[in-house]
Amino acid sequence: MNKKLTISSIKKSKGVRPLVMITAYDALFAKLFEESADMILVGDSLNMSFAGKSDTISATLEQMIYHTNAVCNGAKNSFIVCDMPFGTYVTKEKALDNATRVFQETLADCVKIEGGSHKAEIIKHLTDNGIAVCGHIGLLPQSVRSEGGYKVKGKTQEEKESLIADAKAVEEAGAFCMVIEGTKADVAQAVAQAVTIPVIGIGAGHNVDGQVLVFSDMLGFFEDFTPKFVKKYMDGSTLVKTAVKQYADEVQTREFPSEKYTY
Ligand code: KIV
Repeated sequence: MNKKLTISSIKKSKGVRPLVMITAYDALFAKLFEESADMILVGDSLNMSFAGKSDTISATLEQMIYHTNAVCNGAKNSFIVCDMPFGTYVTKEKALDNATRVFQETLADCVKIEGGSHKAEIIKHLTDNGIAVCGHIGLLPQSVRSEGGYKVKGKTQEEKESLIADAKAVEEAGAFCMVIEGTKADVAQAVAQAVTIPVIGIGAGHNVDGQVLVFSDMLGFFEDFTPKFVKKYMDGSTLVKTAVKQYADEVQTREFPSEKYTY
């Protein structure tokens, strides 16, 4: 069994090897991912792929705590990141109260917060109070409604400079790593080079310090849409549908349960 990463070993991985992060929302999958992933993210993307909503906005702290506990139960040897959902970190006080709940009610190793420079004060307040923070810059799914869709970042020089400033602010505020999402690859590379902590990409090319994917996307379970950056490592939906169809057929013909499955 691999040794569980620590904040220090995650930081030291920069420039040595890329970090592998994957989302999980339950104990069953978390246990399966533990062997190969460095970090498991209980992302608020669970609101879409687990709860069937159209975006992440309505995910609640209670949901995040519930699923984080499930993931921690399944992957006892993994570094677990719990996403702070929309609206739970709008002020320093609220952020600390809510992140404290995550730390007291789960075994998460850190929380993740969307936002760059404008969230630096909040990140600093959390890290000053013993809560480890993973930042999240670039495309911010929690801003989907205010931005009118999911917009790739880093397309202009101004955006590039602002992303680099975001990354520096997040690092300076005390975050030990950050996710960069939906960003032009050359800009993500420049961002990763501008800070000393690992920058983990999703839809941000390969010249960063690690990768994260949503498990239901990369295993091919999520059928509604496939973003360009998602590689499907398995055709999960076809496998599941084929298996359940076979089960249904065998129930109809009474082939299942055969002697082998009968007391
Ligand atoms: O919620 C999530 O799964 C995330 C990833 C997209 C990084 O934040």
